[in-house]
Amino acid sequence: MSKNHAVQTPRAERWGSSLGVVLAVAGSAVGLGNFLRFPGQVVNHGGGAFMIPYVISLLIIALPISMTEWAMGRCGGRLGYHSPLGIYYAVSHKRTGWGICGGLAALAPFVINMYYIFVESWCLLYALQYLGGLLAPLGLSFSLFPHCEPGLYFTDASGYGEFFGSLVGISENGVLFRSFKSSPLILATLICAVANFALVYCGIAKGIERFCKIAAPLIILCSIIVIIRVVTLKNPTGAAGQSFLDGLGFMWNPTRDIIGENGEIIGRTNIWQALADPETWLAATAQIFFTVSICLGAISTYASYIKPKDDIALSSLTATSANEFCEVVIAGFMTIPPAIMFLGVQSASNLGSSFSLGFVVLPNVFGLMPFGQFFGFVFFSLLFLAAITSSMSLVQPTVALFQESFHWQRGSSVILAAFMNFIGSFIVCWYTQGLVALDVFDFWLANFTPIVFSIIQTSLIVFVWKLPALQAEIDSGARVRIPRLLGYVVKYVSFPYLVCIAVFWGVRNLGDRFNEIRSNHVAQLSLGFFVVLIVLLTLLSMIVMKRWEREEARHKAISGQTSQDQS
Ligand code: ALA
Repeated sequence: MSKNHAVQTPRAERWGSSLGVVLAVAGSAVGLGNFLRFPGQVVNHGGGAFMIPYVISLLIIALPISMTEWAMGRCGGRLGYHSPLGIYYAVSHKRTGWGICGGLAALAPFVINMYYIFVESWCLLYALQYLGGLLAPLGLSFSLFPHCEPGLYFTDASGYGEFFGSLVGISENGVLFRSFKSSPLILATLICAVANFALVYCGIAKGIERFCKIAAPLIILCSIIVIIRVVTLKNPTGAAGQSFLDGLGFMWNPTRDIIGENGEIIGRTNIWQALADPETWLAATAQIFFTVSICLGAISTYASYIKPKDDIALSSLTATSANEFCEVVIAGFMTIPPAIMFLGVQSASNLGSSFSLGFVVLPNVFGLMPFGQFFGFVFFSLLFLAAITSSMSLVQPTVALFQESFHWQRGSSVILAAFMNFIGSFIVCWYTQGLVALDVFDFWLANFTPIVFSIIQTSLIVFVWKLPALQAEIDSGARVRIPRLLGYVVKYVSFPYLVCIAVFWGVRNLGDRFNEIRSNHVAQLSLGFFVVLIVLLTLLSMIVMKRWEREEARHKAISGQTSQDQS
């Protein structure tokens, strides 16, 4: 395949170092999914019973698919393409239908970012509130909420729940926009968005890579501080009286006691029953997609900026392992065990949504823990940093798309992406009643779309690009030898598994969601917004690919003319 010079951005961007790209991809993967979504899913789906399908999905989906994404990305980058549109177009040998799929693949990361920065701003506000001393008596004695005095203390989770609800405007749509005095959340969201786009604006090496190199050690440091606190907790002051090991046992034991209303043991869960429930498998696979950032266009876009002879096999394994370490070990240690120790299995598992663990249960735990205010501050700062490194990777595919589509410099592309992002974020921030808009965005873009794209992308790799080309790409520059088996695993294990998951998932979830669209105007508005974006992306992809074809034909004609003149 010849390099298409026509689509090269004015200055081809590259990562500054191999370590930089691994940190950036790991930074993309390590995010709110690790520290909020994962523990919430473990608690909601039976602890150890969830971990079995989770580990299986890691082995047959995350590891092979992320390596194929690195390979696709580097192949696209070598040919001068960096956006999902360009990468799909290059890998499919320039077929328009696949190119359109690639254009649409940019939708998921971009729309996820529209609500991701909103949640990022919750983390920022919680960190600042702990710093000020709002949620515990120590601190710098300031509160960002005029109606809440520093030293505010709740005795149980319902108090923290109400605090969280009022912070995010759960009672009424538009309430966050009333005045800065009633809620600083809009300002915090704006700050997160500006920080995010400013870093992307600074470029691949000077913005994203540099920030990830600073954030990674800080994330590790914050994690170590919180983990040391958690493992050295002796006698929880709460009534639960459970040990750290009880907490770990809750997470890892595939069976556990069922506790009755009065705290008595009334039976034991059945591992086979849990594993026979497709819901557990769906939840585990969806978590793997979200946490490793696979089928979101982020990994392939990042990989397209590595040098043609750089290793991808080891880098991919390192980035995925780093993500799993942060998720299973770090997040697993610092969230579930303290919640069980202080609140007991009954209260800690009564979550409802996966946000409850992070924003209601854990603040309750920090409130009961000695020096909880400091550890609350460290925990939410860690979440905030991890969220920023992920959200940059959600924006970059769209920025690359605009650069390639319009032959724009990075600055103009970032401004257009930021403008469109604000529209989506506005919908999420306005329709906060019951967090319905956020839920609709999350369901369709973070659950539905990756499942659909996992099938599309895997089909592209195994049926169009073909396994020998995949293997050759992985082997090129590899510091570790990846056996041929990988391709067969993708074709004969991952692909059928993904199709089964998609069918189960569709049968299980789509009916209710279509009913919701009929009855809920926020769901209709959100879906309308997605449809507009889908139409725009499809048109853009078609126009851009036509132009690439014309430019390539012209390029070939000029090269032919030049060689004729020379001979
Ligand atoms: N992979 C990112 C996260 O886990 C999106 O938050």
